[in-house]
Amino acid sequence: MATVFSGIQPTGEVHLGNYMGALRQWVKLANEGHDCTFSVVDCHAFTLPYAAADLPKRVFETAVAVLSTGLDESKVNIFVQSDVPEHTELAWYLSCVAPMGELGRMTQFKEKGENKDSVGTGLFTYPVLMAADILLYRATLVPVGHDQLQHLEFARDVARHFNHRFKREVFPEPKPYPLTLRIRGTDGNEKMSKSRGNTIAMLDSQATIWKKLKGAFTDPERTTLEKPGRPSVCNIFTMHGVVTPAATVTEIEANCQNATIGCGACKKVLAESLETELTPIRSRAAALNAEPERVTELLKVGAERCRARAKETMAIVKDAAGVRGALSRP
Ligand code: TYM
Repeated sequence: MATVFSGIQPTGEVHLGNYMGALRQWVKLANEGHDCTFSVVDCHAFTLPYAAADLPKRVFETAVAVLSTGLDESKVNIFVQSDVPEHTELAWYLSCVAPMGELGRMTQFKEKGENKDSVGTGLFTYPVLMAADILLYRATLVPVGHDQLQHLEFARDVARHFNHRFKREVFPEPKPYPLTLRIRGTDGNEKMSKSRGNTIAMLDSQATIWKKLKGAFTDPERTTLEKPGRPSVCNIFTMHGVVTPAATVTEIEANCQNATIGCGACKKVLAESLETELTPIRSRAAALNAEPERVTELLKVGAERCRARAKETMAIVKDAAGVRGALSRP
């Protein structure tokens, strides 16, 4: 059984990219009985400007969305990152072995820092905190979407550097979950992302989902119904692969290539698959929203369990690094 860790930023809106790229795999791994820990990573949100008054609501909404996917809270740990201060503590130790050159090559840093006169150091060291999140639980398996693979590779390097420097296998090297997806935006942009305004939210109503799907980008070269489509470049087909039964996916693929199904009809099938998949999630979210104190309690219990584990790892890390402080000396 693997030790699994993954995180999601508190945007407040979990979209189909998050769901298909990550959360769906979280549920699968939890159901398979792996040791799973998942976090709403609010400290990562500090890296870019935001309205402080909005953050608690965003954290809550994100936690509700995560819980509503069907994760069994008695089997997995779900918590808010800032409730376990060892994340930022470990990030400091790791930053001392993390190569700056590698940080400078991170695509996300380049994208988010682009055209800004000045950015905070936290945006640059973001992947170090992410490595700390994973390594604090000595996780071996990390289910993430395609966009986070570079950060995960960095976390592996940091684990290696730390172990090498202190000549001890403190951290295992975390591996990505084998399925890494990239869900494009409804506008055809490389990535579905709230900041780009091209999302379909996991908790959108069925009517909204259909409205967004109808206008969503498909294969740009399929300009008429008579032209064969290319499922391999179509985002609608990628989403079918996640939520539509395999036999129907095969049929759709052939029909698209033969031009016997149009994009509208293909999207209708996707809307039906999404309805089957998301209806139970929407009901669970409504039930959780009706009981906010239950959500808070679940996050509290999750944080307590994670803190105990985090303290154990910090003791090992400090021991390896010879960091004891005067108070813990005999
Ligand atoms: P975040 O909050 O941007 O996204 C959460 C998860 O959703 C995946 N994802 C996507 N997958 C496919 N297609 C998309 N369009 C798409 N958009 C988002 C992301 O890959 C991610 O798995 N840095 C991370 C959060 C994080 C983390 C961690 C993840 C912090 N610490 C430790 C794993 C382990 C992030 O910003 O994800």
